[in-house]
Amino acid sequence: MNPTLPSVLVVDDEKNMRRSLQTMLADEGYEVRTVESAEEALSFLAGGEFLMVITDARLGGMTGYELLGRIRHRWPDLPTLMLTAYATPKLAVEAIQAGAVDYLAKPFAPEELLHAVARCAERYRLLRENAALRSRASETPSLNQIIGESPGIRELRHLIQTVAPTEARVLILGESGTGKELVAGALHHLSRRRTAPYLRINCAAIPESLLESELFGHEKGAFTGAIKQKPGRVEEAHGGSLFLDEIADMSPPLQAKLLRFLEDGSFTRVGGTQELRVNVRLIAATNRDIVQAIAAGRFREDLFHRLNVVQFNLPPLRERGGDLLLLAGHFLKLFRAGMNKNVNSLTPAASQKLLSHRWPGNVRELRNALERALILETGRDIQPASLPDFRVESRLSKTAPGDAALEESLDGILARMERQLITGAMEQNDFNLTRAAESLKLTRHSLRYRMQRLRMAIGEGDSGDPPAAQ
Ligand SMILES: Nc1ncnc2c1ncn2[C@@H]1O[C@H](COP(=O)(O)OP(=O)(O)OP(=O)(O)O)[C@@H](O)[C@H]1O
Ligand SMILES: [Mg+2]
Repeated sequence: MNPTLPSVLVVDDEKNMRRSLQTMLADEGYEVRTVESAEEALSFLAGGEFLMVITDARLGGMTGYELLGRIRHRWPDLPTLMLTAYATPKLAVEAIQAGAVDYLAKPFAPEELLHAVARCAERYRLLRENAALRSRASETPSLNQIIGESPGIRELRHLIQTVAPTEARVLILGESGTGKELVAGALHHLSRRRTAPYLRINCAAIPESLLESELFGHEKGAFTGAIKQKPGRVEEAHGGSLFLDEIADMSPPLQAKLLRFLEDGSFTRVGGTQELRVNVRLIAATNRDIVQAIAAGRFREDLFHRLNVVQFNLPPLRERGGDLLLLAGHFLKLFRAGMNKNVNSLTPAASQKLLSHRWPGNVRELRNALERALILETGRDIQPASLPDFRVESRLSKTAPGDAALEESLDGILARMERQLITGAMEQNDFNLTRAAESLKLTRHSLRYRMQRLRMAIGEGDSGDPPAAQ
């Protein structure tokens, strides 16, 4: 018996053939469904999972070949076996071209058929095992996917582990690209709700007029285009977690509705009167300055307090010291595997170039920089020339207001200016520490010391720093 296998779908317009196939397979312990036509087969396939399809080449309406074409298109992994009346090489080729994994000429010996079905069963088992492995790989180690050994990131992982199993709402703050979405996913996957749905809504990406119906659903006829009732994402997330990304971009009227939802889990669909209730854990994030949004009257303070049960602050990449190179190595491996490229590592000069950049786009920017570098690189190690020209970007960021608001103290401002001057000197001297030090009228040793003090981690490959590094 094969209790864990789904059914075999048999498609044949001849009753006797259907019956004999059914008996043959059932005797071996397979579950069998039989249908007369391709049309019927397609509707069965849409409604459930099957081990494989066995179809006759000639059928009443749509032919077996057409059926295989449709199956290939919609369920590319579903194995198919074609039965043809005459075994000519031409028909065999046609069957294979139409997408049949296997074909048999009638009349055939029962063992031949059973052999073909057993092969499919084996294939099914392997595919299933693979899928299970893949989902385990992408879910469980979510904490390991958060790369970094700087104190801030170690603490973050610890906090996620502590807070995830609780029911506490979490507000994640941090600049763009610091990993807020990654953290939200980890919080769900390490929670008791991990087997329940996890949904994400980007409040900034959905037009304001549609966001309410997206979140809370709508009744039929609630507005033009609402042709049928639609449940909201909060209903779909029932029992699980909902990640509201870019929460600061939500309009004030919707903020009021969300506040009510957070108070007791109740809401009404757009155009509806019935009060509904669900159990959803909320995780919210924004890269905006939420305190400023509250001060400016754009974000409700009471909503902020409701969301802010536990707050996560993700540090910008430029404050994570050596994590930068750890992350660079991580992305290098990641993309190298995907691109099948034989690039080993970063040259010391390339590391230095990465370390000198300010990374306004944080981890995302670094990820993109490495992806691009791997595409461009033709040598064994990534050269500085394969990395983006950060000079343009850093000029842009210097004309922007900068970090002054975050570092108000005189020491803070001086540190920022010092960092900028050193970065500029490093860029102008092609990341050669000795030459940068000369241009700043410092010894190499004291430049190194200052960079360490400013947590501008220095590349591992910098120890020798030969005069002609570039
Ligand atoms: N510590 C980390 N380790 C590994 N990958 C990371 C880390 N932090 C971020 N990433 C990766 O960087 C990219 C950007 O992260 P994410 O989308 O979570 O940023 P975000 O904070 O949500 O940004 P935004 O505010 O722009 O939406 C993603 O590909 C993410 O997987
Ligand atoms: Mg995000």
